[in-house]
Amino acid sequence: MPYWRGRIHPIMHSGMKVSGSYHEQGYAHIEGLIPGEIAEAFLRQLKADLPLLTSKFISHAPIIKRTSIDVYATDYPPMLQFLWGLTPAMRELTGRDLLPTYNYFRLYRKNDICRIHSDREACEHSLSLTLGYSDGQVWPFEVGAEPIAEPGPIEDDFGAAAHTKIAMQPGDAVLYRGVQHRHGRTTPNPNRWSAHMFLHWVDRDGPHAGHAFDLTASPGQAAPPEAIDFDL
Ligand SMILES: [Fe+2]
Repeated sequence: MPYWRGRIHPIMHSGMKVSGSYHEQGYAHIEGLIPGEIAEAFLRQLKADLPLLTSKFISHAPIIKRTSIDVYATDYPPMLQFLWGLTPAMRELTGRDLLPTYNYFRLYRKNDICRIHSDREACEHSLSLTLGYSDGQVWPFEVGAEPIAEPGPIEDDFGAAAHTKIAMQPGDAVLYRGVQHRHGRTTPNPNRWSAHMFLHWVDRDGPHAGHAFDLTASPGQAAPPEAIDFDL
């Protein structure tokens, strides 16, 4: 049987640009991971499919200051298309044999912050994907430069620790090792709302492989109803 001896070459004109070395630094900025138009289409579909979005899915995660809208794939299975569909790209970007764990959608409100924290083991390889800003104001993601040896307390800022601010447009993502690199957003959200998806994977043969396909992770707690703005 003859072997096919085609040349391996990069996919051109994908619109994706990688800044930074995930392998060496533990994080990288992925511009244009998905087209901004798909990000907006997802927001419109989510809003149409979940009429009770801004009343039923109010949550208060300990790392954020205000309540937020959190939707997990167990409540909205179409979101798995992103987690499963981005798995080949994640395997390329990380150079590792990955399996998906879970993903969720979060709508942050005006003036919110996300306190500096590290993630649980199911978040061995993570994407923070920006879907949209109500007012087009970039709200930077911040990630610690040095890996941590063990989880520390949740804090409002990085203190003296070196960190990088990454400015994302809708469709951009930050690829980061969520367990090893502390991260958050310390400046108040300048938009009326900003919409994000967080997606997580583990190494198929790594120490956290048991978390693969663990969709039940839900760090937030249900919160009482409030008037939440998500006008598209
Ligand atoms: Fe996190």
